[in-house]
Amino acid sequence: MCGIVGYVGHRPAKDLLLEALQRLEYRGYDSAGLALLESDALYVEKRAGKVRDLAERLRDKSFRATVGLGHTRWATHGPPTDINAHPHSDEHRQIAVIHNGIIENYLPFKEELQRRGHQFASQTDSEVIAHLIEERYDGSNLFEAVRTVVQRLQGAYAIAVMARDNPNEIVVARQGSPLVVGLGQNETFAASDIPTLLSFTRQMLVLHDGEIAVLRRNSAEIYDFSGRKIERAPQQVDWDVLTAQKQGYKHFMLKEIHEQPQAVAHTLQGRYDLERGQILLPELEAFRSKIQNAKFIYLTAMGTAYYAALAAKYLWRELLDLPLTVEMASEFRYSKPYLNQETLVIAISQSGETADTLGAVRMARERGATVFSIVNVVGATLTRESDATLYTHAGPEIGVASTKAFLAQLAALDLLGLYIAQVRGKLSPSQTQEALSSLAQAPVLIEKLLQQEQQIVQLAQIFYQKEHFLFLGRDLLYPIALEGALKLKEISYIHAEGYAAGELKHGPIALIDPDMPTIVLVTKNSVYEKVLSNIQEVRARRGVVIAVTDDVQRELEHLADFILEVPAAARWVTPMLFAVPLQLFAYHVADLRGTDIDQPRNLAKSVTVE
Ligand code: M6R
Repeated sequence: MCGIVGYVGHRPAKDLLLEALQRLEYRGYDSAGLALLESDALYVEKRAGKVRDLAERLRDKSFRATVGLGHTRWATHGPPTDINAHPHSDEHRQIAVIHNGIIENYLPFKEELQRRGHQFASQTDSEVIAHLIEERYDGSNLFEAVRTVVQRLQGAYAIAVMARDNPNEIVVARQGSPLVVGLGQNETFAASDIPTLLSFTRQMLVLHDGEIAVLRRNSAEIYDFSGRKIERAPQQVDWDVLTAQKQGYKHFMLKEIHEQPQAVAHTLQGRYDLERGQILLPELEAFRSKIQNAKFIYLTAMGTAYYAALAAKYLWRELLDLPLTVEMASEFRYSKPYLNQETLVIAISQSGETADTLGAVRMARERGATVFSIVNVVGATLTRESDATLYTHAGPEIGVASTKAFLAQLAALDLLGLYIAQVRGKLSPSQTQEALSSLAQAPVLIEKLLQQEQQIVQLAQIFYQKEHFLFLGRDLLYPIALEGALKLKEISYIHAEGYAAGELKHGPIALIDPDMPTIVLVTKNSVYEKVLSNIQEVRARRGVVIAVTDDVQRELEHLADFILEVPAAARWVTPMLFAVPLQLFAYHVADLRGTDIDQPRNLAKSVTVE
C-alpha cells in the first residue's frame, strides 16, 4: 500500500508530481521519490521520510521535464531507507518503475537476473520489475516489454514505467492494486486514486485487474495482458475538489468528523420512501430471490468496518429470522465458513481495496455465495468482486483513522438490514416507517453532538497524559467501545482496550487503578442496570469513570466522575451517536500529545497486503 502517480504532458512535472504525492501520502509515508525524464537522462531522487522532505531536497532544483513518476511508500520488503524508496531502476538507468503491492515471486526472478549479471541496489521486491523490463526493452516498444513482464508476475501490483529514451510514453499496469488514469488537455495522468487527480482533471478511466495502458499526451490506450485492445469511455467525476482538501481544519480527521451529518444524510438520501414505508435499493433488486432464499448471512470486514458489522449484527438479528454471524475477513477463510448458493455475504470496506476483505469475498463467490459489498470508493476492486454494491456516500476520506466512513457504513447497514427484512416479508410498512423516521433524524442529532466539542476538549485536557484506557459497552454499544479504543490507540498511541462490559470481571478488572481511566457507554435499554453495576465495580477499585450516556439519571451522576451526554435516539441511530464523542476525544487527546494525526506511525489508509 503505497501511492503512485505518473504524468506525461506539458507542465513542469516535478511540482505536479510533488503536489500529487502530498495527496497520496495517506497510503504510506515512510519514504518518497520522483523520476523525471530530463534531457534524455533519467533523473531519480528518493529518500526516507515524508514527501515534504523530498520536496525540500528538490526545492532549489529546476527541471524542464514534463514526464515523470512519483511514489510514496509503506514498506513491506526492506526497511524504509533511501535505497529502498521508489522509483527503482536497472543498473543502466534505462527504466524507472514505481510499484504499489507485493510481487510474490520476486525471489526466483532476482536470483535468475543476478545469474545473468544484473546488479541490485535495494532489498525490495519491486526492483526486479525494472530489471525484467530492461532485459526485454528493445529501445522502441515499452508497452510490449511491460506486457511480457507483467504476465510473469505473481502477487498484487499497480505499476507505472517509463524509459530513458521514450519521452512520450508511460506504461501502467494493474493486478490487484488500484490504478486510475486521468485525461487532460494535452496531458495524461495515472494515480492510485481519483481524489489525487481531481485538481488536474475530472475525466477518469478506472483500470481493472489484468489491464495495461499506454499513456501519451493525447491518449490513453487500454489493453488486456494478452494484448487485446479494450475500449472504455472515460467517466466524468463530479466530486468536489474542496472535499478532498482541509478547508481550514487543522487535520483531515477533524474535518471528516465534522462532515458526518452530510456523510450519513448522503448515504440515506434517495434510498427510501417514508410515506410508503419502503426501502429503495435498486442496486439489489436483481437479487430478490437470492435474498428470499438465503439460509445464512455473513458480515465480514476489517478494522473499523468490522466494528460497523458487529454493531449491525445486534440490529439485524432483531429483524431477520436467519442465522447471521460476523467474521473478521482475515479469519474468514480459515474458519470453514458455511458457504453455498443459499449464503449471503456482506463485505464492508471504506477503500474497497483491503486485501483480507477481498480474499474473503473471492472465496465466498467461488463457493457459490452471493456477495453484496458496502464500499465508499467508487470503482474500487471490491465493487467488481461483488455481485452488487451499496455505496456509502461519505466522500473521500483522507485521514488514516476512519470516521465519516464508519458512520456512513452504520447507516448503509441499517438500510440493508431493513431492505433484507422487507424482501423477506419480515416488516410491515408501518414498522419500516418507524425505523426510517428515526434514521432520518440521525444527521441532525450528529450535528447537535458536534456542538459539544468544547466539552470534549476539556476532558481531553484532563486525560491526555494517561497511558492506558479501558472502553466498556454492552449490547450494540460493545462494538462502539471497540471502535473508541481503536481510534484512541491509532492516533494517540495510548494503550486502549475495548471490552464488553460483562467481560470486565473475567480479567480486565485486574488492570483498574487510578491511572487507567474507564470510558463506559451507557444507554437506556435493558442492560442499563447491569452497566451501572459495572461502573460500581470500577469505582470500587479506585478507577476513574467517564460515562458517555443518553440517559443521565441521578444514580449515574453520583457514580461517574465525568459525564458526556449524547442525544437519546432509536436503536438504529444509537451506535452512530456514541461513536462521535469517542472520535472527538481521541482526536483532541492526540492533538494535545502532538502526534501525526492524519498519518499515524506504522499505518496506511488501505491495507492491500494480507
Ligand atoms: O478500507 P477498509 O474499510 O477496508 O479498511 C479497513 C481497516 O483497515 C480500517 O478500518 C482501519 O482499521 C482504520 N485505520 C481504522 O481507523
